[in-house]
Amino acid sequence: MRIDIITVLPELLKSPFEASILKRAIDAGLVEVNFHNLRDYTSDKYKSIDDTQFGGGAGMVMMIEPIDKCISHLKSQRDYDEIIYMTPDGETLKQGIANHLSLKENIIILCGHYKGVDQRVRDQFITKEISIGDYVLSGGELGAAVLCDSIIRLIPGVLGNETSALTDSFQDNLLAPPIYTKPREYKGWKVPELLFGGNTPKIEKWREEQAYLRTKERRPDLLDD
Ligand code: ADE
Repeated sequence: MRIDIITVLPELLKSPFEASILKRAIDAGLVEVNFHNLRDYTSDKYKSIDDTQFGGGAGMVMMIEPIDKCISHLKSQRDYDEIIYMTPDGETLKQGIANHLSLKENIIILCGHYKGVDQRVRDQFITKEISIGDYVLSGGELGAAVLCDSIIRLIPGVLGNETSALTDSFQDNLLAPPIYTKPREYKGWKVPELLFGGNTPKIEKWREEQAYLRTKERRPDLLDD
């Protein structure tokens, strides 16, 4: 898989890809992530990529020209399955979207800034708009990092134990059950007895029940889906 991220702040985005699972996935060649600085695509002598809104109003708007140049340059080199725009008014990121995108070959992610991009960018180039939640960030970069993490960990071979992504919270619309490790007892706080002794069917049943109870208590909306 190849991910091209278009941003005015590549330095803000790079570190999540330089550690842990994302770094390992890149080092193993399972995913290639490229950063494109939008300022490299402007013909403006001050390298500006935004301007004031037509019709008046506060806040700057990202101009279409550098975005068009960058996306057209990328599209001249390969076909893209999705061109995604990170924006608070996009579709809220859910596990299903990450699952869907993890099967793609090439995607572009455009990070918005200021007030956002000229509407014509969205109309002409964007195939999917994604929000990471109902709050406004200073830009799309952190959202893009979240989206990439959620996608990359699902690419076959990225996680050592293939089943571990399948047992994540949300994969079956349930939150994950409680988990424990050594010691068996700490300051008098005990691990549930049934987890010892290796009765796998009983443990599985307990986990399913716990996942259901936790979901019912914390996220009943998931059970309605
Ligand atoms: N840019 C600003 N806020 C955002 C959000 N909530 N999700 C994605 N991109 C954004």
